[in-house]
Amino acid sequence: MNQADLQAKPWQLSERARKLTSSAIREILKVTERPEVISLAGGLPLPATFSVEEMRVACDRILRYSPAAALEYSSTDGYLPLREWVTQRYSVNGASIRPSQVLITTGSQQALDLLGKVLIDPASRVLVETPTYLGALQSFSMYEPNYVQVPTDEHGLIVSSLTADVRLLYAQPNFLNPTGRRLSLERRTALAAFAQGAGFPVVEDDPYGALYRDQCAAMLASLEQQMPAGVE
Ligand SMILES: Cc1ncc(COP(=O)(O)O)c(C=O)c1O
Repeated sequence: MNQADLQAKPWQLSERARKLTSSAIREILKVTERPEVISLAGGLPLPATFSVEEMRVACDRILRYSPAAALEYSSTDGYLPLREWVTQRYSVNGASIRPSQVLITTGSQQALDLLGKVLIDPASRVLVETPTYLGALQSFSMYEPNYVQVPTDEHGLIVSSLTADVRLLYAQPNFLNPTGRRLSLERRTALAAFAQGAGFPVVEDDPYGALYRDQCAAMLASLEQQMPAGVE
């Protein structure tokens, strides 16, 4: 093949990639780099609160005492002591999680992408709260679902509007992005009951639950465990 042939043939993107639109999150973050702009569009943590010194000390300790374990390839589900820590952190209010059920990902975006990959076929129905987190829509959209919008009010997602025959429900019971609403305990219990008999997974995205320490922040999985057997 000569140089002229190579230049004549442009790259061919996959059909899926050709359907992609530009990322709204990328556009939001691009604006935040302009020093004259104070952007309220993205939820950016305050740099002054970053635990810089603690991170430096932790990195130093790891590289000094466990360099091989830190830098070598490891199991794809993640560092076991970290997975054990996660099980302890989330085995609360009656929920019981085993390390084999924990997968460490690079941020939630990778987890959402993996969920889309294993659960969504083109035209699969996916339930999402209205409105919902842009990043989740962006991850799932790669797998070409048909979104079914679930209405919300001041108590969060309206559980009685949920329909069956879908691949998954993506829900944020705590401080829903972008409305900031929390699912009431009553609705939470109803959603956990619905999830038990639904025949599809309920994906609970909970980056903000730790900000609110009362029973309303209970994970759906823990409410499921507390319910009497046979509740519909
Ligand atoms: C509901 C929700 N999930 C996930 C994320 C992002 O999480 P991560 O930084 O782990 O990708 C955000 C950030 O805005 C969010 O609001």
